[in-house]
Amino acid sequence: MKPKNALKGLDCRKIIYYRQGVNKKMKSLKGFIFDLDGVITDTAEYHYLGWKRLAKEEQMEFDRKFNDKFRGVSRMRCLDMLLKENNREVTPQERKEMAERKNSYYREYLKTISKDNLLSGIEEILKDLKQRGYKLAIASASKNTKIVLDKLDIRNYFDTVSDGYSVKNTKPAPDLFLHTAEKLNLKPKECVVFEDAKAGIDAAIKANMLSVGIGPTERVGHADFRYDQVSDIDLEEIIN
Ligand code: BG6
Ligand code: MG
Repeated sequence: MKPKNALKGLDCRKIIYYRQGVNKKMKSLKGFIFDLDGVITDTAEYHYLGWKRLAKEEQMEFDRKFNDKFRGVSRMRCLDMLLKENNREVTPQERKEMAERKNSYYREYLKTISKDNLLSGIEEILKDLKQRGYKLAIASASKNTKIVLDKLDIRNYFDTVSDGYSVKNTKPAPDLFLHTAEKLNLKPKECVVFEDAKAGIDAAIKANMLSVGIGPTERVGHADFRYDQVSDIDLEEIIN
């Protein structure tokens, strides 16, 4: 898939400048930053089941379509969106308890995951990049990141791991990706971000990093590159 549909409607000279700009970004690539949920493994379903259980207990409306808005968004912000959608007002204590309850359900579902839950093709990509000498990192909004990486048995691939504890402002703010680049000792323009969430691509763009979206155009069509699924990713296209 070629970079951006934004080229449509630009004159030839602008297209050449645009491509030179993209190529410049690509030539200097030194690090690959991966989101976790939806890029490395599909834990979105477990997050959905956790929220669904909480919503049912609290007599709140919740469905898969609404759950899609939670991709890349922190636990507390997801809860606030759910409460707002249901016109529900709660005390700070109730809010904290509900978030903890959802997390305990999510953790219960996580017990069943193993290396088999890696998304098809992702381990080959990690091996390939590692062999080519690139630095690799995880940057996820999840506070369960380290537990999930250990369950999947892939922590060794990564030079550094940033998670929901690493920065105050999570996605769509660029902070998590900028923090990760700093830990890798790289400049933002030397990094490429793999993301399945709209909030994640927004964050990568704000961080001035090359972005690769995994998922439908409606969600990640604003990325520099987009693929329907991880197994479709063409590394040569991104690197060269
Ligand atoms: C992101 C998920 O990776 O982590 C979101 O895409 C989730 O759906 C967020 O809400 C926070 O996760 P956790 O594990 O800290 O509740
Ligand atoms: Mg994600």
